[in-house]
Amino acid sequence: MRKDCIQVEQRLGEQLRILLVEKGLLDADFPITKKDKQLFFPLQRSIAAEELSVLVQKIGPLVLVQKDITPTERKPPDLVTALEEKLPADLVESIPHSLDIIGTIAIVELDPKLTPYETEIGDAIREVNSRVVTVFAKEGGVEGMYRVRPLRLITGKDQSTTVHTEYGIKLAVDVAQTYFSPRLGTEHDRVTQLIEAQEVIIDMFTGVGPFALLAAKRQPVTVYAIDVNEQAIQCLKKSLTLNRLAGEIVPLIGDARKIIEDQLEKKANRVIMNLPHNAFDYLDVAATAISPSGGIIHFYGITTETRSLETLCEEVIVALGNFGRKATISGSRIVRPFAPHEFQVVIDLQVTPENTTRVT
Ligand SMILES: C[S@@+](CC[C@H](N)C(=O)[O-])C[C@H]1O[C@@H](n2cnc3c(N)ncnc32)[C@H](O)[C@@H]1O
Repeated sequence: MRKDCIQVEQRLGEQLRILLVEKGLLDADFPITKKDKQLFFPLQRSIAAEELSVLVQKIGPLVLVQKDITPTERKPPDLVTALEEKLPADLVESIPHSLDIIGTIAIVELDPKLTPYETEIGDAIREVNSRVVTVFAKEGGVEGMYRVRPLRLITGKDQSTTVHTEYGIKLAVDVAQTYFSPRLGTEHDRVTQLIEAQEVIIDMFTGVGPFALLAAKRQPVTVYAIDVNEQAIQCLKKSLTLNRLAGEIVPLIGDARKIIEDQLEKKANRVIMNLPHNAFDYLDVAATAISPSGGIIHFYGITTETRSLETLCEEVIVALGNFGRKATISGSRIVRPFAPHEFQVVIDLQVTPENTTRVT
């Protein structure tokens, strides 16, 4: 489209921009363009010679020109705005308010009523989130030993692999074959802020390795990163090539119990055990992984209506005692809601050195 613009040397651009905004002359629907150190400011309306000479007096040399420019593409601010004219009015309230974005992939939970409109919804998700190229719908909860969620492509490129950025680390993820939740980002950050240089860490259920990578990014530590899902460890190995780390990560494929019993007993200053539904099944082996001089266990569990966080804390301490390790709780918190009345929680346990009696 042909448009009146003011041409000015780049060095005078910011002064002119401020003045044009003050006078309501800058047309924000068009981009400010640049060529050969000259800037072109699109105008709301044509201006008279006297108005131009006022600008020249205030700014310096500038000229009025006509230029072909394309309007700036304005993306809708949210999904409801993007979809309200494409969906029947009675369905607008069912539009999802949250979705997971993992790299270039969006994962959305759709009300079955919206199924006939899923392509429009997928396209709108891409319109609002310009980095997204693929949209999958959840087809159920995370399931099985690998904690993977069944997904169905609703729009975009049929590709389940991507690279997600979290707190400055690049994570290779395959959303169809591995577990990863961007909703745990704050927890990955929190735990790895606590880590000190030279620690030996065992991440028993590492998945694609967000705890391990962030720990090794932030500190010169050694992390044994274990997962039974070979694809998850393949992703972690790929991430090792994508990040510059201060520490070392040793990726290990297999059952955490067997690997610890075979090669990692008493080695760790810190154990991360993020397998919330089965955590108690592995607490004994986490206890054997901790160094005789003590250490920390980050225990993830689930609270329900009948099992409060306080109850869970007591149970963990008793269980650890039965496995021959004394511990105190240095912190506990809700990580995120899981299901109605169910929460994923974390309990940070300070395991006391062996053969010392705690005075209470
Ligand atoms: C909830 S995911 C945790 C992912 C990761 N810690 C994170 O924050 O993204 C649990 C992981 O444990 C793995 N897993 C399940 N049972 C296991 C076992 N016995 N030994 C090692 N890994 C196991 C699954 O394959 C899955 O990747």
